[in-house]
Amino acid sequence: MSEVAEKVQEQEVDLTGANQVIDKYLDMHGALMPVLQEIQEVYGYIPEPTVHLVAERLNVYTSQIYGVLTFYAQFHLEPRGKYIVRVCMGTACHVKGAGRIADTLKERLGIGHAETTEDLKFTAEYVACIGACGMAPVIMVNDATYGSLSVQKMDDVIQKYMKMD
Ligand code: FES
Repeated sequence: MSEVAEKVQEQEVDLTGANQVIDKYLDMHGALMPVLQEIQEVYGYIPEPTVHLVAERLNVYTSQIYGVLTFYAQFHLEPRGKYIVRVCMGTACHVKGAGRIADTLKERLGIGHAETTEDLKFTAEYVACIGACGMAPVIMVNDATYGSLSVQKMDDVIQKYMKMD
């Protein structure tokens, strides 16, 4: 577990949101997936105490829940940043300098692939082609795409998000 995750998990998790999600699905069969999806919407990830809560209230084994959580890439067991910075490492981006873009991100924010800043503002992810090869090298910050990046442009993008709440 990362340092950020450990720090967050040391704090007590307020289970009110998870309980409200479970309440909605209590009498439904096959509710595990939607319950986990909604819990992730509430917390931004699946905190460990919510796994035990779901197990107890839906009467399923924790091993079954972890099986689902680890099978589907959409679930995250560690806290993630408010801004997810996806750096494309596909062939076109690689050729046009994706490595330099990833290095710039690491220099400015101190995070590499699958890492999150301590203030929970940014998470970096290196991903395969995101379908914008004509604009290589490309990153996405949440749903926004930034292409034809130079180190300077990458810096500008990062600065912009650093100034945002
Ligand atoms: S390789 Fe980066 S968008 Fe396709």
